[in-house]
Amino acid sequence: MQLAGKRIIVTGGARGIGAAVVKAFVEEGAYVVSLDLGEAALMTGDGGGWAHTRVCDIADSQSVDAAFAWANERLNGLDVLVHAAGIAPNASADSITLDEWEKVFAVNTRGTFLTNRAAYELLKGSGGRIINFASAAGVIGQPGKAHYAASKGAVLAWTRTVAREWGPLGITVNAIAPAMWTPMYEATRASMSTEQLQQHDAYMTRQVPIGGQLGEPARDLAPVLVFLAGDGSRFVTGQTLMIDGGMLMLS
Ligand SMILES: NC(=O)c1ccc[n+]([C@@H]2O[C@H](COP(=O)([O-])OP(=O)(O)OC[C@H]3O[C@@H](n4cnc5c(N)ncnc54)[C@H](O)[C@@H]3O)[C@@H](O)[C@H]2O)c1
Repeated sequence: MQLAGKRIIVTGGARGIGAAVVKAFVEEGAYVVSLDLGEAALMTGDGGGWAHTRVCDIADSQSVDAAFAWANERLNGLDVLVHAAGIAPNASADSITLDEWEKVFAVNTRGTFLTNRAAYELLKGSGGRIINFASAAGVIGQPGKAHYAASKGAVLAWTRTVAREWGPLGITVNAIAPAMWTPMYEATRASMSTEQLQQHDAYMTRQVPIGGQLGEPARDLAPVLVFLAGDGSRFVTGQTLMIDGGMLMLS
């Protein structure tokens, strides 16, 4: 049990990366509150861990504050926030409407601000971990998702800044740039033509040294999050961790 008794909030816990992380945390003995747009059943693990779900719209200030108050009551404090909720719609840069731009920034960027701010209030006395989800798109760009890329670039800048501001309180803040096969990726694939898909798959074969395609969240990402949520990562902060099979290599 690497996370026995750790009190953790996971946003976006209903599916994809968030769901895999919630399951791994429960199996490692953590107490988890999973926040997402819909309800889910109580999950329990053999080692005493559990996960309750609470409905929350991370783009809405009142919803976030109410959900964190609810979580604080059940968890009796907080050790870790994993903020995985996000959206990644497709649109060429010249066709993005103002509403689409505002929606992406409301969920991905405002949502990061609101959830991190709420976590800070619970962590500032004791220290802890905040793990945000950025994207390679926020580093190198992603054609067809300019609003998404811009919102994730903002998540990276926010993460580095609060890592500096909150570090003296013992709060580490890191960002993940994942490459995982999830419903979000399935939606991106579904938006491609047959020819685009063939080109994309050929590109991934060349670009990802480990396996030639996106990873599997339970196998390839959740164990890294177990480490980052634990005591062993106390000296890691302000970093962008690419958990992507080597897809994006920066010096
Ligand atoms: N899958 C990848 O390869 C990849 C790559 C780069 C970045 N990311 C980032 O990782 C995170 C998780 O991605 P995923 O692939 O698991 O996505 P996903 O779409 O499969 O799951 C996202 C979850 O977030 C929830 N969510 C969306 N909007 C919400 C809101 N307003 N309030 C609360 N919950 C909301 C959804 O209901 C869903 O359960 C996202 O932030 C995404 O941008 C993923």
